[in-house]
Amino acid sequence: MGGWQDDRVTFDVRALTAQDQKQAWDLGSLAFGYHDRPMPEGWVSDSPGRYTLGAFDEGGRLVAKAVDRVQEQWFGGRLVPTSGVAGVVTAPELRGRGLGRLVLTGLLAYARERGAVISTLFDTTPLPYRALGWEEVGSLDYHAFPTRVLASVRPDPAVTLRPAVAADVPAIQEIYRRAARTSTGLMERSGPLYTGGPAEFLAEYNGVTVAVSASGAVEGYASWDRGPGYDSDGKLTVDDLIGLTSGATATLLAMLGGWASVAPTTIIRLGAADPARSLLAKVDGKVESSQPWMLRVVDAPGAVAARGWSRYISGEADLELVDAECPWNVGAYRLVLDKGEARLEPGGTGAARLTPRGLAAWYAGAATPDQLRRSGHLTGGTPDTDAFLQTATAGPIPTLHDYF
Ligand SMILES: CC(C)(COP(=O)(O)OP(=O)(O)OC[C@H]1O[C@@H](n2cnc3c(N)ncnc32)[C@H](O)[C@@H]1OP(=O)(O)O)[C@@H](O)C(=O)NCCC(=O)NCCS
Repeated sequence: MGGWQDDRVTFDVRALTAQDQKQAWDLGSLAFGYHDRPMPEGWVSDSPGRYTLGAFDEGGRLVAKAVDRVQEQWFGGRLVPTSGVAGVVTAPELRGRGLGRLVLTGLLAYARERGAVISTLFDTTPLPYRALGWEEVGSLDYHAFPTRVLASVRPDPAVTLRPAVAADVPAIQEIYRRAARTSTGLMERSGPLYTGGPAEFLAEYNGVTVAVSASGAVEGYASWDRGPGYDSDGKLTVDDLIGLTSGATATLLAMLGGWASVAPTTIIRLGAADPARSLLAKVDGKVESSQPWMLRVVDAPGAVAARGWSRYISGEADLELVDAECPWNVGAYRLVLDKGEARLEPGGTGAARLTPRGLAAWYAGAATPDQLRRSGHLTGGTPDTDAFLQTATAGPIPTLHDYF
C-alpha cells in the first residue's frame, strides 16, 4: 500500500507479515493493558477474517496499526457486509501526528475493495473516529437488577427448562438469528470469525439454559455465567436471554430469580427494545456498563443497496455526499426507494447535503433529519426531503451485542 511523509520521517503502510507479529503484540498489549502477559506461543494478529494494516517507519518499526474484521450485521432484515474495526493503536510518542488517520483511511480503502459497505467499531473515544466519518449510533449495555426482583416474574407452567446440549445449539442459533433479523445492527454469528462448534459455544458459559414448549420445541435460551462468592457481591451475568414467546422469556427470567440467595445481583445484556424489558421495571435496574459503538458508510451506493427497507415506503430524494476519507462516495445522487429495494443513482440536483457522520447516523436510523440539521450534518433540501429521509430508515434502535 502507499506511503506517507511528515516533516521528518517517511512511513510505509502495508499488511503485516509473519516477521511483524511480535511488534503487533507489543503495540496492542501496551495500549490495551495486557502487556504483563507474554505473547502466547504461535500468536498471530491475522487469521481468516482478520486483516491488520500497519504503518512502519524507515527502520521497519511498527508505529500504528488497525484491524479489519470480516463480519455481517443485520439491517432491515438483510445482512450488510461490514468491516469491524479493532486493535487501533498508534505508538505513544507518535500520537496526534496523523498516523491513526493514515492506517484507518488505508483500512477503509481495503475494506471497500473486499466488498464491505459499512464499518462499525467499539470506540474508547469517539474523537479520532468522528474526525474520519464514523458516528456513534448505539451502545452495548449491561443492566444490573437485584436478583430478587426476577423471582417475582411468573414462569409459564407450560414451559420447561433444562441445560442445553450440543444438539440444541442449531435451534439456539436460529432463535438468536430470528431476533437479529428484525434488528438494526445485530451481528450475524457466522462467517470466518465464528468457527467454533456447539461444544465450544457451550463451553464459553457456566450455563446455557433452554426453554422448551409443551410440544418439545426450543422457544428460548439464556447463556449465563456465575461469578465468584455467595455474599452480597455474588453476581450472575447473562449475555443472551431470548424468548420467542412471552412464556419462554418469563420462565427464563424467573429461573434467574432462583439465584437470589447466593447471587444478589443479576447483570443482563439488554437492547433498548428487548422484550424482556416488558417483564422488568426500569426503576429496578441500573446501567452496569455501557460501551458505545460507531458506524461509517464505506461504500454509499453499496450500503444503500445492501440493507433492507420497508416495502411500504416509496419515494426519491436528491442528495449530495461529501467525504474526504472515502472520496469514491463524493457526489450528487438520487436516493430511490421502491417496494423494499433502494438505490443511490448518480445524478440529481444534490439538494440535501450529508456529511459522512450524517450519512452514518441516518443509515442506522440513529438520528432524525432535524437532529442532523441542528448538529450541522444535513443542509439544504426541503421539509419533504426530511420527512422522506426520516421515514426511510426509521426502525428499531440500533443494537449490537457482540463486543469486538
Ligand atoms: C486513538 C489513536 C489510535 C489515534 O491515533 P493518532 O495517530 O493519535 O490519530 P491521528 O493523529 O491520526 O488523528 C486522527 C484524527 O483524529 C483526531 N484525534 C485523534 N485523537 C484525538 C483526541 N484525543 N481528541 C480530539 N481529536 C483527536 C485528530 O485531530 C485527527 O483528525 P484530523 O486529521 O481531522 O485533524 C491513538 O490515540 C491511540 O493509540 N490511543 C490509545 C489506544 C486507543 O485508544 N485506541 C482506540 C481504541 S477504540
